[in-house]
Amino acid sequence: MTSGLRKGLTSYGDAGFSLFLRKVFIKAAGYSDDALDRPIVGITDTASDFNPCHGNAPQLIEAVKRGVMLAGALPMTFPTISIHESFAHPTSMVLRNLMAMDTEEMIRAQPMDAVVLIGGCDKTMPAQMMAAISADIPAVVLPVGPMVVGHHRGEVLGACTDCRRLWGEHRGGRIDAAEMEEIAGRLAPSVGTCMVMGTASTIGAMAEALGLALPGAASAPAVHADRLRIAEASGRAAAEMAKRHRPRPSEIVTAAAIRNAMAVLQATGGSTNGLVHLAAIAGRAGIELDYAAFDRMGRDVPVLVDLKPSGAHYMEHFHHAGGVPRLMREIADAMDLSRPIVGGGTLADAVAAAPDHPTNVVRTRADPVSATGSMAILTGNLAPRGAVIKQSAASERLMSHRGRAVVFENIEDMAARIDAPDLDVAADDVLILRNAGPVGAPGMPEAGYLPIPRKLAQAGVKDMVRVSDARMSGTAFGTIVLHVVPEAAVGGPLALVRTGDTIVLDVAARRIDMLVDEAELAARRAAWTPPPPRAGEQRGYARLYREQVLQADEGCDFRVLTADPDASARKDAAR
Ligand code: FES
Repeated sequence: MTSGLRKGLTSYGDAGFSLFLRKVFIKAAGYSDDALDRPIVGITDTASDFNPCHGNAPQLIEAVKRGVMLAGALPMTFPTISIHESFAHPTSMVLRNLMAMDTEEMIRAQPMDAVVLIGGCDKTMPAQMMAAISADIPAVVLPVGPMVVGHHRGEVLGACTDCRRLWGEHRGGRIDAAEMEEIAGRLAPSVGTCMVMGTASTIGAMAEALGLALPGAASAPAVHADRLRIAEASGRAAAEMAKRHRPRPSEIVTAAAIRNAMAVLQATGGSTNGLVHLAAIAGRAGIELDYAAFDRMGRDVPVLVDLKPSGAHYMEHFHHAGGVPRLMREIADAMDLSRPIVGGGTLADAVAAAPDHPTNVVRTRADPVSATGSMAILTGNLAPRGAVIKQSAASERLMSHRGRAVVFENIEDMAARIDAPDLDVAADDVLILRNAGPVGAPGMPEAGYLPIPRKLAQAGVKDMVRVSDARMSGTAFGTIVLHVVPEAAVGGPLALVRTGDTIVLDVAARRIDMLVDEAELAARRAAWTPPPPRAGEQRGYARLYREQVLQADEGCDFRVLTADPDASARKDAAR
């Protein structure tokens, strides 16, 4: 097998010349022949001034390089696009697949025997794992790590569960604008990813459970020395894998590994976004994410990680408690711990090395944060292919609820009317947002956390049932039904609901329905027309996205990027 500099030569019709030319140019960077004879470990550089979550990437790269060289290989960094949640328009989810394409093709195009993928901010690690699976060269995932906690007037704060909670207090008139400015400087006190069990933390935990990241990689804070040691070890692991050309992601990401990630997702109280990304990751490996199996697992695997938004603590506390390996010990009966991890050994080895001192951050099955898993899958005439509710962050009193629909046609309509004093809405109504799915918005923005209408918020209402085809931030909370499939913009039944219809949510029965008879629904369906493409969607990446994006249950990947695009098309045609 060719390796190092000889790998993937540029095509000039003369392999000897291609290698000669490559050497001519790389020698301009001052490399010796000894260095150029080594296996090469590529390292993605996702540092960007627009991505403060990745602010420690330069230090991590240095540590990874050290590890690679200590193991006798040659590290070479290369840039890929980087996406920050708050700096991506219209939403980072639209760009995840672009980052996955960029990363996959740069791994494939450049001569590397293994790759270390440095990511963290929500969509970046999913994009990188999708890319690594498709490129299928040995790969180690290295999260940038979570921020340390913030403090404000004696209270411990975390991005961004407390961003949303405090913004809700501000909307309700209980925190003034001056204090909000003060709080803005305290919610994210260091580089790194959001330090609650939001999307970034959830994806990191799943990367460990999949076996693609080293033990502790999800939880060590971004600014701790542990993070740099894990980076060095990731470089070493990648160098060893580069020499052996294995294990490849296809050996790591199997159906059993996906089930392990599902179990960890349920037990962490993790982000609903994690489910979308896991479906996309599985799809790259040719594995269909089984919603029914995920739901069954949620009945069996309780939430054990006591972190916000489902619990009380933050990622640094999770790390000190033993992180993902310790959690896996508690749910070992639901996992296949014989699965390998990239640094060598198995998940069982990582579990055996985890600490066992007393902790209230990783609970036991006898004393869970929540007796059931984080999420439940609902179906019904409102969501024939499924919808998701994060039951661990929902209000118990609303888990079985019947209410009048108050429908918002799209995000713009919701923004224009939600706070109107004359909005006809009551606390027990069900807020519906549609045309906010993968195609409709586009990119399934995190708009599923519809704000409580201002007049109700001011009256002290803290939660209502909300239903949409959008996503929700992993840091958010509330009785919120998300990811309705099929989405309204492609003709899903969510498009047919009208204000005044009765909506029934029954989480115990796993149902979400609208009480509208079939004849009436058929008439509404006949009158429905799809929303036209938006301005800017006629060309370029936006058009590619609109034409290719799959629904939430398939991970919102592009059909052509899945392991078998033709099989995916046949399956959809049969639906
Ligand atoms: Fe980057 Fe939360 S905004 S991880």
